[in-house]
Amino acid sequence: MNDFETSMLADCRQQFPALQRQEKGQAAVFFDGPAGTQVPLCVIQAMTRYLTECNSNQGGVFGTSLESDQWLHQAHQAFADLVGATDPDEIVFGQNMTSLTYAFSRSLAKTWKAGDEIIVTALDHDANISPWVQAAADHDVTVRWIDFKSTDYTLDLDQLAATLSAKTRLVAVGCASNATGGINPVKQICGMAHKHGALVYLDAVHFGPHGLIDVVDWDCDFLACSSYKFFGPHLGTLWGRRRLLEDLPAYKVRPASDRIPWKWMNGTQSHESIVGGMACIDYLANIGRALADQGETPRRTALEVAFTAITKYERALASYLLQGLERIPGINIFGITQESQLDNRFPTVSITHDAINTTDLARILADEGIYVWHGNYYALEFTDRLGLEPEGMVRIGLVHYNTFAEIDRLLGVVSNAAMATS
Ligand SMILES: Cc1ncc(COP(=O)(O)O)c(C=O)c1O
Repeated sequence: MNDFETSMLADCRQQFPALQRQEKGQAAVFFDGPAGTQVPLCVIQAMTRYLTECNSNQGGVFGTSLESDQWLHQAHQAFADLVGATDPDEIVFGQNMTSLTYAFSRSLAKTWKAGDEIIVTALDHDANISPWVQAAADHDVTVRWIDFKSTDYTLDLDQLAATLSAKTRLVAVGCASNATGGINPVKQICGMAHKHGALVYLDAVHFGPHGLIDVVDWDCDFLACSSYKFFGPHLGTLWGRRRLLEDLPAYKVRPASDRIPWKWMNGTQSHESIVGGMACIDYLANIGRALADQGETPRRTALEVAFTAITKYERALASYLLQGLERIPGINIFGITQESQLDNRFPTVSITHDAINTTDLARILADEGIYVWHGNYYALEFTDRLGLEPEGMVRIGLVHYNTFAEIDRLLGVVSNAAMATS
């Protein structure tokens, strides 16, 4: 297999029109991926083609509607391939992960009774906390919290083991933290939860651009992700086990089908986004096909190859960035930094500086054309527990289209800013 950096990086970057953007005569640096990645041309073209050639509502007997149905059916299959499922009917589309989770939490909560318990974590994005906490309050269900460790900010699995019981109905947990970049051992967590009869709802939004999702291997019950975080348009996706999606009561309008996935997809969807979502999965699969030198590689296999190469490249980026940041006086890093542990994190690095507030640091970088996020990025419980509110942190979020040269630019700017304070 070919190496991603030498054989694919330049070609991938070429496919993203946004990466041509200039700021003060220099190429802009997009380190804002965790808040939404840039989009390759094939995604833009697929969306344009849908709107140009077969923009129509579903279920009609005429040409554009029939073609629309076909495209959307193919998209369900593409997303099943992405998450490692075989059944396209297990794929539910919606506006975004948050609204899908809110709607779904109402239905799941109907199966809970007073005295039941659910588990959420202090490491999660609020989209995988508030919907469950509020649903629990509606049904007199107790919410148990799992904390993160103060050493490396990873989830406290001992606490999880001690908290799970026969009363636990649900564990809601992220596959990876959008604040620390840390990867949670979700397969292990699913095993622990299932031993107690609890269901597991995984938030794969931060995991999606970096790693291969595998609902079968992980043995989760539900998984939500967002394609605007993995090179696609604004679109949320929920995967659920067929039996559960069929059995659970859905809030839906009367004319909507009782069959899955339709019973979970109220109203008309953003067809162009769903088609664009399929195109971004094919963009990723094509990286795998190019690396394997085999154009005919099935999509799921191609995705496996792509993510193996992307993960390796991103690990090297993370290592380089972390080492550079650790050399700068006054920088604090919130997440795994040990080289031997880097397989357990993605290249999403949150920092603070002892003497520069986060808004100022983000602005200093923005002035040099380097885009980073600052604040809590809705990982509110994390920043709150660390006493970092209201300033939060600065998040440097890398994906596979970023480069070592871009990291050098960032390190230079942060280093100069730090020096100016000493
Ligand atoms: C880890 C994580 N979960 C959930 C969300 C919410 O996703 P959406 O914007 O699709 O509702 C985000 C968005 O930033 C996120 O980073």
